[in-house]
Amino acid sequence: MEFMNLDQFDLAQSAPDEEPQRQYYYMALARTKVAALAAEVGHTLTAHVTTFGCQMNARDSEKLEGILKLVGYELVEEEEDADFVIYNTCTVRENANNKVYGRLGYLHAIKNKKPHMMIALCGCMMQEPEEIQTLQDSYRFVDLVFGTHNLYKFAELLCTALDSDRMVIDIWKDTDMIVENLPVNRKYPFKSGVNIMFGCNNFCSYCIVPYVRGRERSRKPQEILREIESMVADGVKEVMLLGQNVNSYGKNLDPQVSFAELLSAVDEIEGLERIRFMTSHPKDLSDELIAVMAKSKKICHHMHLPLQCGSDRLLKEMNRHYTKAHYLELVEKLRKAIPDIAITTDIIVGYPGETEEDFLDTMDVVNQVHYDSAFTFIYSKRTGTPAARKEDQVPEEVVKDRFDRLLQVVRKDGQAKAESYTGSVQRILIEQVNEQDASLVTGRMDNNSVVHIPGDASMIGTFVDVKLVTCKGFYYIGERLS
Ligand code: SAH
Ligand code: SF4
Ligand code: F3S
Repeated sequence: MEFMNLDQFDLAQSAPDEEPQRQYYYMALARTKVAALAAEVGHTLTAHVTTFGCQMNARDSEKLEGILKLVGYELVEEEEDADFVIYNTCTVRENANNKVYGRLGYLHAIKNKKPHMMIALCGCMMQEPEEIQTLQDSYRFVDLVFGTHNLYKFAELLCTALDSDRMVIDIWKDTDMIVENLPVNRKYPFKSGVNIMFGCNNFCSYCIVPYVRGRERSRKPQEILREIESMVADGVKEVMLLGQNVNSYGKNLDPQVSFAELLSAVDEIEGLERIRFMTSHPKDLSDELIAVMAKSKKICHHMHLPLQCGSDRLLKEMNRHYTKAHYLELVEKLRKAIPDIAITTDIIVGYPGETEEDFLDTMDVVNQVHYDSAFTFIYSKRTGTPAARKEDQVPEEVVKDRFDRLLQVVRKDGQAKAESYTGSVQRILIEQVNEQDASLVTGRMDNNSVVHIPGDASMIGTFVDVKLVTCKGFYYIGERLS
């Protein structure tokens, strides 16, 4: 990536209008302000970003951290130790929101003892006007609030917040902008998420994401390839291509590029060893994509294919644009082309109006597919979505009962799948020293399963062939072969 040198800016001049130059100017300015504050309090300022949401949210946090580091903050592991805490929020389900408010109270207590401390909130929850109102009414101690569309101008906002003693709020309704070449602080040296698109145009009836992440916009393939190439030059071996619906990548680009075409190009990047992507929407999963996956040696044999529900009636209400039969057909095609593919999913239980019959359709798909693993969610009403206006909410005890029944099957299938790999030889990427036992290191298989083997920190970031000796439910103890 072409990161700019902060020393080139004359801060006596006004900020340039063009991006990303403008943000680099503000990083240079923030650096002087952070240094002044550090001199005042007598130590290097520390910062911590907490991610509440999905992989895209996590990638955004890495962008914030990149800027924080460049302007002079030292990143610390614990919120308690930080002079600046940022909560990068999620609002996909009610409990995601509740967590944020709970923890804000705790941060307030810390801030009371540390007056120079700053607190910022950003992410999906901030795109909801009611939440901003709540913050203004009851959480006045928050210093900076921004949204998902203007995250790129964090350096500029930080300068304003450092100069102000009031809550600085900047939220945009939507954007068509993509600002490239801003700094990023990768969590892992050897693997990284890569945004290929932002936003979502699908408007599934239960889902808040299109409202808080805006319209779908794809990054240009050249920008994506350039970013991955520079990551690889920097030691990255595995990338996860990120988008709410990667299968509709490129539809708004001129000339149009398909996700399969992008994947083929990424596949050719020398030195890159593993490619993952997330999430695939069943309505747009093409034969071309399956063919590219089957041919590639780098694309992981894993497909996360959210089902949400198995009932055609509800799928229609959910605005998902596929049927149970179409979904099952896709699974069949995938398994035919890539016999050892791991298939995982997301399922929602208790969508308004869900009958026992609808639920049995979901169970039927689960029983036919035998997922490697499934994320199961209880439907959560999101204000502003079409489903929230429906009156026939399913009683809590009925939802709970269905949820438990589903979970039982999903667990049983997951365990059986995991068991079936025992004894096999797998290539794993070593990610870290085991947290409980320092004589072990932990790696991941192609299908994302976790394996622990004897080893040490020098192995982190390398690929190792292992034999899976024991299956412990959802992870393995392995033995090194190479
Ligand atoms: N873009 C992805 C999903 C993003 S949200 C896709 O379309 O598959 C991740 C998951 O959260 C969804 O797959 C869905 O299962 C779940 N989810 C979204 N909105 C929800 C809601 N209102 N209640 C419960 N679960 C929800
Ligand atoms: Fe939400 Fe549907 Fe978009 Fe996924 S595809 S983010 S579930 S609206
Ligand atoms: Fe949550 Fe936003 Fe991701 S609502 S799931 S953080 S896109």
